[in-house]
Amino acid sequence: MINRIFEPYYKSTLNDYTLYLGDVFQVLPALDYEFDMIFADPPYFLSNDGLTFNNGKVTSVNKGEWDRAKSFDYVNQFNRKWLSLVKDKMKNNATIWISGTMHNIFSIGLILQQLGFKIINVITWQKTNPPPNFSHRSFTHSTEFIIWAKKTKSSRHYFDYELMVKMNQGKQMRDVWLLPAISKWEKDCGKHPTQKPLPLLSRIILASTKQGDLVLDPFAGSCTTGIAANLYNRKFVGIDINEKYLQIGKCRRQMLNKKRTFWQEKVEKLLYR
Ligand SMILES: C[S@@+](CC[C@H](N)C(=O)[O-])C[C@H]1O[C@@H](n2cnc3c(N)ncnc32)[C@H](O)[C@@H]1O
Repeated sequence: MINRIFEPYYKSTLNDYTLYLGDVFQVLPALDYEFDMIFADPPYFLSNDGLTFNNGKVTSVNKGEWDRAKSFDYVNQFNRKWLSLVKDKMKNNATIWISGTMHNIFSIGLILQQLGFKIINVITWQKTNPPPNFSHRSFTHSTEFIIWAKKTKSSRHYFDYELMVKMNQGKQMRDVWLLPAISKWEKDCGKHPTQKPLPLLSRIILASTKQGDLVLDPFAGSCTTGIAANLYNRKFVGIDINEKYLQIGKCRRQMLNKKRTFWQEKVEKLLYR
């Protein structure tokens, strides 16, 4: 099969931030890159018409059709397909981070191992400000998981151990990260329903990449990964199927020069304890 050619939807003037609009299953095979690191925040498939609290108001948990709850078989097939595709585009020593909740993380963990990745850590991101539990029939959900894996068992992955210790008052950093959910200052360009916080992505970028490295986010959304990458002088390629979200990503990149110092201060206030 001949791959279609995809032109970038947006490229920064410095060529360090490139966005592609389209379905990852069509776009990625057509791209000619080898990545040092991948961060993926795929659909969690948790939009099941349930209710939650948001800013004190009862709201729907639904994020969009792309996140609608599906059968186990569908979720497993989807995860196997995109994980196989991204593995082909990773350098030998590259690593991948994948975020999730109970809705998708067990599928991801199993498939990663079946495809020959080697799991390095499972980070528990404990939110300092989770929404209260709506049903009063279970514990309050206050965490997300982020699996960190290397391409193969023999990959020699990069980890900035010293920087993580420095950020953690001279002590080894643990795999439970206490960080807030998304804040108002991160939404200058509009809202994405599942935008990840910039401090979270900045820690991931700083821990697992070097300056100049090339980072992919195959489900880029508002491109938090790209902003964190460029904030710390790494290069970024992002893919998303929804133009509305890539517009937010483009706007955030265009704002970066003006906001760099402010965003860096906000991030580092949370990352250095
Ligand atoms: C959980 S969100 C990512 C949010 C992102 N981390 C951020 O900080 O804004 C998942 C994204 O995947 C996109 N998406 C879903 N299916 C896709 C597909 N087949 N190809 C490309 N993007 C897809 C959705 O449009 C959505 O923006």
